[in-house]
Amino acid sequence: MAKPQSFYLVCLAFSLVFNLLLIFKLYVGREWELSWSRRAAEEAEYVAAISCSGHGKAYLDGLTLDGKEPVCECSSCYGGPHCSEFLTGCAANAGSGDPLFLEPFWMHHASKSALVVAGWHRMSYTSADQSYISAELERHIRKLHAIVGNAVTGGRYIVFGAGSTQLLNAAVHALSSHNSSSSSSPASVVASIPYYNYYQIQMEFFRSRDYVFRGDASLLQNISDATNVIEFVTSPNNPDGQLNKANVQGPNAKAIYDRVYYWPHFTAIPTPANDDIMIFAMSKLTGHAGSRFGWAVVKDESVFQKMTMYTLMDNMGISRDAQLRALKVLNVVLEGGGKDFFEFGYNTMRKRWEKLSNILSVSNRFSLQKFAPKYCTFFKKTREPSPAYAWVKCEREEDKDCYAVLQEEANVYGLSGSQFGAEDRFVRLALIRSQDDFDLLLQRLNQLVSEEKSSAKLFCPRFEDKLATCLLGANYIQHFSSRTRLNITKRP
Ligand SMILES: Cc1ncc(COP(=O)(O)O)c(C=O)c1O
Repeated sequence: MAKPQSFYLVCLAFSLVFNLLLIFKLYVGREWELSWSRRAAEEAEYVAAISCSGHGKAYLDGLTLDGKEPVCECSSCYGGPHCSEFLTGCAANAGSGDPLFLEPFWMHHASKSALVVAGWHRMSYTSADQSYISAELERHIRKLHAIVGNAVTGGRYIVFGAGSTQLLNAAVHALSSHNSSSSSSPASVVASIPYYNYYQIQMEFFRSRDYVFRGDASLLQNISDATNVIEFVTSPNNPDGQLNKANVQGPNAKAIYDRVYYWPHFTAIPTPANDDIMIFAMSKLTGHAGSRFGWAVVKDESVFQKMTMYTLMDNMGISRDAQLRALKVLNVVLEGGGKDFFEFGYNTMRKRWEKLSNILSVSNRFSLQKFAPKYCTFFKKTREPSPAYAWVKCEREEDKDCYAVLQEEANVYGLSGSQFGAEDRFVRLALIRSQDDFDLLLQRLNQLVSEEKSSAKLFCPRFEDKLATCLLGANYIQHFSSRTRLNITKRP
């Protein structure tokens, strides 16, 4: 009688061990076989492995060769099928603020930041609770601000937008439509020179009867009854990186704080910002400009409602795919309290600034904006400057158009001062672009400054608008047009 019993016991033990092994494999070992996601993963890795010589990328949604292999999209000055050919004579692009400086971080964290999206992922306009936004993403955003210490979010509302660009206009709409009930005149929208010119471009494009862009904030500063004034305060500022504060005060003056650069890679964080409306964006935080995702932290409930309504009227909410991507990358940013991510961003920008400053420090012709080292509450130390842009000034009297000087003499493209409401004696150079763009920019500026140094022995007694002759040593004269050296002749 004992035999069948022990047989059952052995079977039971065997079954238990087998099931435990299965459970371990499924839930602990996490090595279950991929099914429908395998193909997507293979496609993603196949495209990522296409060699573009380190000077370009192939993308899943890029053009394909013979309908199959995705084609390399090369950096500005590289060409050929694998981006291996340097295009000599190509212009150094320091124009738009395309934030590709963070690309190496994301390539280094490929496995953590990759995303597989099922074909049926959030197909509906809304979630089951009729919401347009991911509550989990909102929670992550609040956590991020708390960890970085750059903004107060407790008791504040958060509005999602298609990039900060949409939210800037949503905020103006919310503040100006508030005013229009009590007054028929449109609100005056102002900003301090030099200012990010998209404010003006956007206002003028939409031509609302609720607001009108009036330019320089300092013109309104002294008006005591500054009614219906909306001021854009960009802090840190684009283009000069200064931590600006509102200029216009008064009961009816409202400020929209554009804080897209208020992150440890661009500035010291002295204190958590506590403004009524603060706007942030993925583009300048993680570099994912193409995802078009931003958020506003808003104190007042009615402003929050109006801004939310604006995003619904404009766009019926924000892409759920973009929200998912934002959540994924914010999870990586948050790892280890943000140290890895912000240290990478800060060190990259600090080194870029240091290299550029070293080159221009020996020039008498060009100067840069100044920064003092500042204590950063995030890094818990005094840190060196690491701005997103160089605000370059041409110091020579005759160099009135600094953009043209750099373009004609160094083949470097920036953005001219007048695009920021300032003099054309200034030019903005973007430092947040790809490594290729930055390296070429440095190389060209280095050459320009070396030429300046080698011709420093020149003595130009008189420099008229069009033509000048300069003494070169004792025996030669060099002829100049307003910008270009023409030829050298012997002194008569
Ligand atoms: C000061 C400032 N605000 C807003 C933006 C727009 O950012 P987004 O890509 O989030 O629309 C930029 C872009 O360069 C910027 O410099």
